[in-house]
Amino acid sequence: MSSNLDQLYRQVIMDHYKNPRNKGELDDGALTFNLNNPTCGDRIKVSMEVEDGKINEAKFDGEGCSISLASASMMTETIKGLPVEDALKLSNIFSEMMLGKDYDEGDLDLGDLEALQGVSKFPARIKCATLAWKALEKGVNQKGEE
Ligand code: FES
Repeated sequence: MSSNLDQLYRQVIMDHYKNPRNKGELDDGALTFNLNNPTCGDRIKVSMEVEDGKINEAKFDGEGCSISLASASMMTETIKGLPVEDALKLSNIFSEMMLGKDYDEGDLDLGDLEALQGVSKFPARIKCATLAWKALEKGVNQKGEE
């Protein structure tokens, strides 16, 4: 039973890896952050168009393993149209999930990202799954430092 679920999750991950959503970069003026995973050297760049505290558009680019790219694809799908505040909340919820903790989505929705919950069993891959999220957090915080 649980292996069926694992298989479904694997398919969702591979689908995002092979058919990435929102791949590319937004024009100048977007909040952009490029982040390396120091353990492997892979990198993900996240760019977001934020207006009045809301993420209108989000894209990603970079090189990495299937987990990191699938997570970035899922993340951009999920955060588009959300207030920045909610995107940061989701980032925390996703981190809890990666740590194998109980998590509560409240009125937010992780969507396809739940397919990554099995990654919590492989500590070495957690950084892969959270790379795009860290780039999102840093990109958003950068705004205040301008
Ligand atoms: Fe480099 Fe996953 S192995 S991001």
